[in-house]
Amino acid sequence: MIKLKMPLLAPEVDAAALKAVQPAVRRVVDQLYKGRCPGSDMLGWRDLPLKEDSAELRQIQKLARKIRQKADLFIVVGIGGSYLGARAAIEGLSPALPGNRSGPEILFLGNHLDADYAAELLRYIKGKKYYVNVISKSGTTTEPGIAFRLLLDHLRRTLPAKKVKERVIATTSPVKGALLAMAEEFGFHKFIIPEDVGGRFSVLTPVGLLPMAVAGIDIGKMLKGAAGMARHCSENRTLGKNDALKYAAARHLLYLAGKPIEILGVWNPALLYLAEWWKQLFGESEGKDKKGIFPASVGLTTDLHSLGQYIQDGRRDLFETFLVIDKNRRKVAIPELEGDPDQLGFLAGQQLAFANQQAWRGTMLAHRAGGTPNMTLHIGKRDAFHFGELFYFFEFAVAVSGLLLGVNPFDQPGVEAYKKNMFALLGEPGREEERRALEEQLLKIDDSE
Ligand code: PA5
Repeated sequence: MIKLKMPLLAPEVDAAALKAVQPAVRRVVDQLYKGRCPGSDMLGWRDLPLKEDSAELRQIQKLARKIRQKADLFIVVGIGGSYLGARAAIEGLSPALPGNRSGPEILFLGNHLDADYAAELLRYIKGKKYYVNVISKSGTTTEPGIAFRLLLDHLRRTLPAKKVKERVIATTSPVKGALLAMAEEFGFHKFIIPEDVGGRFSVLTPVGLLPMAVAGIDIGKMLKGAAGMARHCSENRTLGKNDALKYAAARHLLYLAGKPIEILGVWNPALLYLAEWWKQLFGESEGKDKKGIFPASVGLTTDLHSLGQYIQDGRRDLFETFLVIDKNRRKVAIPELEGDPDQLGFLAGQQLAFANQQAWRGTMLAHRAGGTPNMTLHIGKRDAFHFGELFYFFEFAVAVSGLLLGVNPFDQPGVEAYKKNMFALLGEPGREEERRALEEQLLKIDDSE
């Protein structure tokens, strides 16, 4: 099981501080399990892995097998919580180099509005057999909406109607939204996102599971890992016994001690997208009511040669959480080099994983000495089971941490502001007045120096 080690958090967080915060932790955990917290209508994620729907799981696996056999490409269309979890698992668990992967190549669209990328993708898919998984809980999000239009248009121009519907899988709300209506009208294959599971908490629903299964990930094992962690969290509600609670409490104490920025440091490039998922989960859950820890991330050792300088020596308002995989999949020994021209001969015969480990150990001490408290989450292995544990660990931790902060961790009212402006500027009917006011403001900006 995932293990948290935090000996380098003192003096900001010590045993006395943890003891003092325990009653508050107990209170919010109670609220969480009694369903009496802010956002209590969105607690579906809490017991989700414990209520595994084996019929749905089999359906996902069956469809994924078919797609793996038949398709050249599988295109995931979604944004935010409707794509980051799948991508985190796919990048995290698949071979790093595309040529070493099996099954269809997996592409992503609908997570931005870049015309160059869309044009290139539309050129790339020409003549290839592809399936589209369009994922949107609301069914009305602009970025995936436009991307899906582009792909549907392409499918319709290249295939007969009967074939088009076989190539589209819609993952959406069971009760509302344009995507649900389209899935029903056109007869697309459909998967459901439970109403009480928010986007960023949906990685263990078909939102994440279908793309993962198409990538060849053992989603049964992932759900087992998540279920184990869910059981552990429910049965161990004190800091001493539950590392997810300890993590939530520690980061809350660090925030109160004047450290409002958390950097997730990953020591394997495979985990870079996991860090993206984590940033969304924590940023959207906690950053509200003018409060919250700002979540950032670094890939290591890469970023020790860029942001490392700042972390060591810049403003002292940071703390770090390292993600360390204890057991690499493969061994690589550093070779001898005759004459030792690079003077690295003292490393000959050592494992590359050992070098990475010493880099982490040295960094922990250096950053602490420079005033950046840090803790480390140890993940036994990079496999589906441990990813399941990790996904649940962070979901549980952010719920507790958000409640400790006094916010509703399950809503995201701030996301609406840009959408409102964008729709008005794009000329949505009924928004003419808003559009005029915004254009006036923008004119002043355009005219300024
Ligand atoms: O966590 C969230 O709720 C958001 O990040 C959503 O996942 C994101 O905005 C996409 O929404 P939808 O699935 O409705 O298209």
